[in-house]
Amino acid sequence: KFEGLADTPPMGWNSWNKFACDVTEDLIKETADAMVSSGMKDAGYEYIVIDDCWHGERDSLGFIQADPARFPSGIKALADYVHSKGLKFGIYSDAGWQTCGGRPGSRGREYQDAMTYASWGVDYLKYDWCNTEGLKAEGAYLTMRDALYEAGRPIVLSICEWGDNDPWDWAEPIGHLWRTTGDIYNCFDCEEDHGTWSSWGVLQIIDMHPGIRSAAGPGHWNDPDMMEVGNGMTVNEDRAHFALWAMQAAPLIAGNDIRNMSPETLEILTNKDVIAIDQDTLGVQGYKHIDEEDYEVWVKPLAGGDVAICFLNRTEEAMDITFDWATNKLVDPDFGHTTDFAQSRYDIYNVWTHKKAGNTKKALKASLPGRDVLMLRLSKK
Ligand code: GLA
Repeated sequence: KFEGLADTPPMGWNSWNKFACDVTEDLIKETADAMVSSGMKDAGYEYIVIDDCWHGERDSLGFIQADPARFPSGIKALADYVHSKGLKFGIYSDAGWQTCGGRPGSRGREYQDAMTYASWGVDYLKYDWCNTEGLKAEGAYLTMRDALYEAGRPIVLSICEWGDNDPWDWAEPIGHLWRTTGDIYNCFDCEEDHGTWSSWGVLQIIDMHPGIRSAAGPGHWNDPDMMEVGNGMTVNEDRAHFALWAMQAAPLIAGNDIRNMSPETLEILTNKDVIAIDQDTLGVQGYKHIDEEDYEVWVKPLAGGDVAICFLNRTEEAMDITFDWATNKLVDPDFGHTTDFAQSRYDIYNVWTHKKAGNTKKALKASLPGRDVLMLRLSKK
């Protein structure tokens, strides 16, 4: 695969969570405009990705074309527009005969599609897993990786087989990120039953696959799915969602209508201190230091010996917490980073209020609102 494309988790926007199949070139252009004017680009968001349903038919030679009604100017012109804003452009396909939305898939056309994407100026490919009966995931993704490489344009490969084939065991040399779960649903704590499959709330997603964090690192990330911030959860829930994605070193792919967002949504999505924790160059995914039914404490080792710590109230009721630094030595179960507050004192910085909050000498006491977080960055004195 192309190296150096995702040294930190990719950041951007994708059409699916909010717009599903209702995608048009105007939506994509307006979204690119909003990415710049809202300040999201300055905060680090880079990729504008069209998800499923942009496709038309293949032409007589088998080349894929855009839906002419929805994308009358074609994808190349759209990619040029996105690039003219200083942003990067992403697209979606599927390893099977058809996409999840029933559009033409890339099976048997991998090299042809990769050539087409490269000629259009695509920078990012999300590659889905519907309608793949009889295919082996690793081989199918390898084929598309090789096709992209052969096409010669550096393209981020986003693997989307929902964690069904343990991608954390094989995907590092193939893709830059891989989904670890089924689809996210726009709720904090629920399972949405679609008959043959389910989609999942924020809490359900963070509980899945606790043992895979050692697979993540610069250039290869676990992807707990795109964000639902700004799509209807409460501000507390959105804040907790964003914080937990940052603690997991997750790709930060916004999934809301960024042309029309509330000041609260924009503030969450562009919180530079939280983004810095997600994008930290050490590239270590966080772990749960305390994992109780109602309450969790997440820890993410950072470059230079800093540590991010995030206290999560999973319930709807406010909760008082006490955290005694001296008796809570932080021990990373996979990478060996340790933080011993009995040995060294750390200064505390609150990344949501952007204020210093004392140091680790005295035990921390706080009240956590329902479904909310307290998120701190600790730096050695
Ligand atoms: C799958 C993916 C989603 C989205 C849809 C599009 O469900 O997991 O993220 O891409 O397909 O149809």
